[in-house]
Amino acid sequence: MLPTDPAALPLLHHGRLEVSGRLVEASNATFLSTVECDGVSADCVYKPIRGERPLWDFPDGTLAGREVASWLISEATGWSLIPPTVLRPGPLGPGMVQLWIDIEDERGLVDVVALDAVPQGWRPVLRAHDRYGDPALLVHADTDGLRRLAVLDVLLNNADRKGGHVLAGCDGAVYGVDHGICLHREDKLRTVLWGFLGQPLCGGVLDVLRRVRCSLDGALGTALAEHVTRAEVRAVCKRTDRLLTTETFPAPNGNWPAIPWPAF
Ligand SMILES: Nc1ncnc2c1ncn2[C@@H]1O[C@H](COP(=O)(O)OP(=O)(O)O)[C@@H](O)[C@H]1O
Ligand SMILES: [Mg+2]
Repeated sequence: MLPTDPAALPLLHHGRLEVSGRLVEASNATFLSTVECDGVSADCVYKPIRGERPLWDFPDGTLAGREVASWLISEATGWSLIPPTVLRPGPLGPGMVQLWIDIEDERGLVDVVALDAVPQGWRPVLRAHDRYGDPALLVHADTDGLRRLAVLDVLLNNADRKGGHVLAGCDGAVYGVDHGICLHREDKLRTVLWGFLGQPLCGGVLDVLRRVRCSLDGALGTALAEHVTRAEVRAVCKRTDRLLTTETFPAPNGNWPAIPWPAF
């Protein structure tokens, strides 16, 4: 089922949820599952709240709630960058359920390459060394979808945008996953998408940001407050205002590791 299918959200909310396996590489209890209703089924990710590892710097609310709040912001942009995500009961207790995205190619839109092997049009992020000690570059593609995801990450204050959390969907669209440690009120942006640093935001993006800013004072703000603190909602407003003032992709603030580790 495509993330843009209007049937996805009701199916995730009300379908029969069954666990089919555990994602072993995941840091929390993350289960590959299916939701089914009236013969229609879809794969999904299910993260029960009780499987969340407590984090000292995210003491408020739940990681599942942060994932839903992040999806609400993605929806407010109209960019559909985060797969439909809901909070609901499940076989291992209440948790976050998100539509599974089939990906086109494991290599995706973020990569580590030799210095002379940067794919045409891709943007360098960081010079490092590969596992054999040879110099290498962390790079990412430059597409509208990825630019939008980088802007969304600024709004979300995403503290964990690893390469593996950027999916190139079979439908040709870009999706972000794993937004449990987003929306902190202090600056914690940690991402592999720094290749746009200092670039101007285009007019279309600024229009979207203005619309999101209005909605934050209304329905979006109210919906977010069910999942994160009031101070955290105010911080989303501030980050949106800052982007609207600078009209530029920001740089790391220097007080915080700018790149997640591991990067994938
Ligand atoms: N909605 C999704 N669609 C497709 N793949 C997903 C989805 N959510 C997670 N994944 C894959 O599963 C991996 C682990 O999930 P993630 O959300 O990162 O779990 P954790 O919070 O435990 O780190 C991700 O890196 C990604 O490859
Ligand atoms: Mg993860």
